[in-house]
Amino acid sequence: VGYNVGLLGLGTVGTGTAKIIMDSVGRHPLLEEISIVRVGVRNLDKARAVEFETGVVTDDLASIVTDPNIDIIVELIGGVKPALNYIMTAIEHGKHVVTANKAVISRHGDEIFTAANAKGVYVLLEAAVAGGIPVLTPLKQALGVNRINRVTGIINGTTNYILTRMKNEGVDFDEVLAEAQRLGYAEADPTADVDGFDAADKIAILASLAFGGRINLDDVYCEGIRKVTAADIAYAEKLGFTIKLLAIAQGHRPENGAMPSEIELKVHPTLLPKHHPLATVDGVNNAVLVEADPLGEVMFYGPGAGEGATASAVVSDIVAIIATLEGCSLNDKGRGNPLLRCSHEHYTRVAPMENTASRFYARILTQDRPSVIGHIGLAFGDHGVSLESVVQIDVHDRGAEIVVITHHVREGEFQTALKALLALEDVISVPSVLRVC
Ligand code: HSE
Repeated sequence: VGYNVGLLGLGTVGTGTAKIIMDSVGRHPLLEEISIVRVGVRNLDKARAVEFETGVVTDDLASIVTDPNIDIIVELIGGVKPALNYIMTAIEHGKHVVTANKAVISRHGDEIFTAANAKGVYVLLEAAVAGGIPVLTPLKQALGVNRINRVTGIINGTTNYILTRMKNEGVDFDEVLAEAQRLGYAEADPTADVDGFDAADKIAILASLAFGGRINLDDVYCEGIRKVTAADIAYAEKLGFTIKLLAIAQGHRPENGAMPSEIELKVHPTLLPKHHPLATVDGVNNAVLVEADPLGEVMFYGPGAGEGATASAVVSDIVAIIATLEGCSLNDKGRGNPLLRCSHEHYTRVAPMENTASRFYARILTQDRPSVIGHIGLAFGDHGVSLESVVQIDVHDRGAEIVVITHHVREGEFQTALKALLALEDVISVPSVLRVC
């Protein structure tokens, strides 16, 4: 008895994973059945924080995914290639896979899960979304009897850290990013985080579980935080909002409660009312708010990254697979555990961004002269955009700064109104447009 694991990658998460498995006292008894028999690394000479018996660590990763002695491959090397090849080869060889790799799943989930279902193996990825916070397993299992109407997440720690410091210190994006890079909170190449791509990968995965269909990653509207200024954060504060990078998946169900035929799927900086449950999620923390019927709102909150947190999610997936294998050996119907396997193979349709609706915040720089606010109101009104509030925040030598918040309006109508606004003689520029929750 016992299960053999092959670990691909011994970086931060790989090290944390090995530490939990090798120190099983006081944890789930199934941990005692796990042996890490092979560990694949790129550089054999690098010093490691965990020790393995001679012969376990190798730089020949391809030999691990074909090793007949291994039951479960744990892929922790990240990135799309060569991770995809290792995952596909492991599946072809009948191995279950646990991964923390949101990039490969959000881009290649289609072929990975189709192959896994055909081969009768599990691919689990709790660690890929919101690090240590259990959210995929709850969506598949405990929340699965609900109808999910919306999933809203702060699922990128780097951008949440940057926005939190911008708010607390009143400094601009570039300055905080440089400091975050110095402290190791942001990558040297910060694109995946600050431009929203990491959050897009994660919300695509959350949406596929919440709405029971595959997602084309290209359908996710994605806007990062580079354009958010300290001035916008200060204005938002004055108006009772805090700015967060939100990832949102939502859909309107027909009356009988069936899955929505189309969903909205977007990542963008958003003004959140200060009393919103996600508004106080600060720093590197992540949180996912799920609106479920009949459960209501449930929020998952905690560390979205880090060695121990992410490893906790990885090892819980290994244990879930082992528990299932033990359960199914008594009464194996050949389809696997339907609570753990991927149970959909079709794609969910995502609404074009112009058809989605939102409230908007716009900061408008205008000439300082009479009737400007009237002209702005008319430009919006002529295009069906109704204003909830208009505030003149500041007057300086460059003109007047006016902030408007609209009522809910289709994105397409708002963008048309914005063009009309920009054509007005009174309007110098519109330095910021943000969506309001
Ligand atoms: N780069 C991610 C973040 C952590 O900043 O949240 C790993 O998913």
